[in-house]
Amino acid sequence: MIHTILFFFVLLSSYTSYADDLCVADLLLPNTPSGYPCKSETNVTVNDFVFSGLVPGSTINPFNFAITSAFVTSLPGLNGLGISAARADFGINGSVPVHTHDATELLIVVEGQITAGFITRTKVYSKTIKPGDLIVFPKGLLHFVVNSGVGKAVAFVAFSSSNPSTQILDTLLFGNNLSTSIIAETTLLDVSQILKLKAQFNGTG
Ligand SMILES: *[C@@H]1O[C@H](CO)[C@@H](O)[C@H](O)[C@H]1NC(C)=O
Ligand SMILES: *[C@@H]1O[C@H](CO)[C@@H](O)[C@H](O)[C@H]1NC(C)=O
Ligand SMILES: *[C@@H]1O[C@H](CO)[C@@H](O)[C@H](O)[C@H]1NC(C)=O
Repeated sequence: MIHTILFFFVLLSSYTSYADDLCVADLLLPNTPSGYPCKSETNVTVNDFVFSGLVPGSTINPFNFAITSAFVTSLPGLNGLGISAARADFGINGSVPVHTHDATELLIVVEGQITAGFITRTKVYSKTIKPGDLIVFPKGLLHFVVNSGVGKAVAFVAFSSSNPSTQILDTLLFGNNLSTSIIAETTLLDVSQILKLKAQFNGTG
């Protein structure tokens, strides 16, 4: 008898914690450092866990690439689960500029040929990879992706965060009003090159 009660108790508590773990994002409420508030379970449907939007984006931009993302903001079921996805499309000679995320990224090539890598304090890890190959970019490290094949290329990526942020080196340096003289002094780049990049990334000053 005691065992039966214990069994039901364990069963009940495991179901309770399972239900408690589900916290589908209420996107009408503001995001918080620990994710979005949960929406009421009565309003949760299977569509909170499905996203059909990982379609090719437009590659008409200076880097000739497109990112389409499935983050918590478009797939509310990801809230609190520490995972998300994206799709990268590359035109001929397209690339993803050097950038970092506050999450680890895993990139899987599905079409074309890609040269990708990341940079640590002491070393560059870079390799040309093909469909079926994957590469992992550890959290926080600068990394890049280049279409090194003859045609277009497509990759899918996963992030260890449901809402990863991205810091693009070029945008940080040349896409704001950080003064040209400070950039020149602190990077040793030529002023003419800085002005050229500021024009490209809408920087001023
Ligand atoms: C469910 O969603 C509807 C429509 O957005 C809203 O009016 C209602 O308050 C929600 N129910 C709960 C229990 O949050
Ligand atoms: C791609 O890059 C290669 C090597 O730099 C160049 O020869 C080729 O013209 C480029 N193709 C396009 C379409 O820009
Ligand atoms: C740069 O822009 C910020 C607003 O984004 C402004 O407060 C600041 O004064 C600007 N600095 C310079 C040097 O123009």
